[in-house]
Amino acid sequence: MNTSTITDNILSARYLRKGEKTFEDICHRVASALASDEKDRELFYEAMTSLRFLPNSPTLMNAGTEIGQLSACFTLPVPDSIPGIFDAMKQGAVIHKTGGGTGYNFSHIRAEGSPVRSTDGVASGPVSFMKAFNAATDVIKQGGRRRGANMGILNVWHPDILSFITSKKEEGSISNFNISVMVNDEFMTLVRDRKFDEIWIKHPVTGVKVTVGEIWNGIVDGIWKNGEPGVLFYDEINRHNPTPGLGDIDITNPCGEQPLLPFESCVLGSINLAACINEGKFDEELLDDTVRMAVRFLNNVIDANVYPIPEIEEATKKTRKIGLGVMGVHDALLMLKIPYDSPGGRKWCGEIMHRITETAVEESQLLAEKLGTFPEWEKSTWKERKVRNAAMTTVAPTGTISLLAGCSSGIEPVFSFAYTRMNTVGKTFFIVSPVFKEALHSTLSEKGHSGDELKKREEEVIAHVHDTGSIQDLEWLPADFRSLFKTALDISYRDHIEMQAVFQKYVHASISKTINMPNSAERKDCEEALLAAWTLGLKGITIYRTGSRDSVVLSLGNSE
Ligand code: CDP
Repeated sequence: MNTSTITDNILSARYLRKGEKTFEDICHRVASALASDEKDRELFYEAMTSLRFLPNSPTLMNAGTEIGQLSACFTLPVPDSIPGIFDAMKQGAVIHKTGGGTGYNFSHIRAEGSPVRSTDGVASGPVSFMKAFNAATDVIKQGGRRRGANMGILNVWHPDILSFITSKKEEGSISNFNISVMVNDEFMTLVRDRKFDEIWIKHPVTGVKVTVGEIWNGIVDGIWKNGEPGVLFYDEINRHNPTPGLGDIDITNPCGEQPLLPFESCVLGSINLAACINEGKFDEELLDDTVRMAVRFLNNVIDANVYPIPEIEEATKKTRKIGLGVMGVHDALLMLKIPYDSPGGRKWCGEIMHRITETAVEESQLLAEKLGTFPEWEKSTWKERKVRNAAMTTVAPTGTISLLAGCSSGIEPVFSFAYTRMNTVGKTFFIVSPVFKEALHSTLSEKGHSGDELKKREEEVIAHVHDTGSIQDLEWLPADFRSLFKTALDISYRDHIEMQAVFQKYVHASISKTINMPNSAERKDCEEALLAAWTLGLKGITIYRTGSRDSVVLSLGNSE
């Protein structure tokens, strides 16, 4: 069994529409629905069929169909009133139904124990409402194809912050949410200076006080125990808010790559960097052409999109943000023989991402010359340049589309070069990374192995990788081969963070990435990682310690 068998399965389950039989049929439908002219239709079709560029799942599923909802990312405001809260729940349900994911910041909801004037009662607080949102998500499958994903955020200055942090302590509770604490520089400075006894918040009614240390330890403990909460950096997000005139940003979509204003939505699309390599050389011109095509593609989605509610259409069209990202980054590095966790790897990635963002801005400028700037351009930070889109680049998880493209997901290092994957109907497949297989073959041949002996050695290594996930302990393999083929767990968490920081430097929005830690990592490693993330200018961080959860809810490569 090989990757294409899995791909077929994903396709039939997720993307094929009535009358469609092949991936080309899907690309034909999508390109025809989105291109403004014949030339672009051909370019869109070619980029998708060659797996060099793919839009997010809702576009592949719904473009050119009656549903017509094409975006993956939505953020909804949750006001402090019963009708307002249930309006948000209803809006979320409508979005899930069409394949989108929703982010909410629950901080406007008054704290548990606060008075409710109309009923003379007391408020139940944001966490209890989150459970209601979670239950609503359970009953709606996204477009009948996947379960809805949510992000639940609480600001660190909300009085219920401790119960929020521990709300997912029980494995399986609030399972349709990723949760994140929105911290600010003031809080992080106190942590950095180890002012743990300082009172951080006082409950407005009960007077209960919470210290910096209680919150910080709660966050660190939660991460160490089961990878949550994630942490978002409010000030860093807002230092890069492209439209401060429209308000501050305190919400992101479910996987964190899109910090957005309330009611904004964003369509994502990702370029497979591995598909830009020809005969061992990275083709920069091909990348530039792909970026330009992708900006036009995603910009057209904004106009072709069928929006679930009018407020979303209005907010989205004011800023016209698009989310162009990358996938196959580790594959590309392997093909170019550059280790992921090396200065050279970071340099290459920084240069490529810089190039992508600059080219995307240039193309958006061309679009602005023809069609005008995004309507709220004057309230934006784009003083020097007239652009069609307030933000252009991001890094999505690419959980499903990277499987479709057969490449490594987003900017993540490969998890294992040989593994067994179970598809949605429970069939298992044994998969070996083709880049690894080829390199192993030539390395062993160079070492003088041949014939049956070579085959036996290859099988031995692949079985070892399948069982243990790593080749680092096979000391008889050449050192340069071992240092190139490191996996997500072989790479230190500091190198994970540094790679995220390199991309963040050039990405307009944010980045979805998991910082992997070995099972033996301690709480102090989690603390150090969080502080490093803040210092290095990340907008958010997700940490996962191997084996700390029985099942991973919604993370990379696991978006079914
Ligand atoms: O690969 P694909 O286009 O399917 O999606 P992704 O890159 O893994 O995720 C992009 C975004 O889609 C996430 O950040 C969520 O906003 C949304 N999503 C969702 O709503 N439901 C899922 N099961 C997976 C992703």
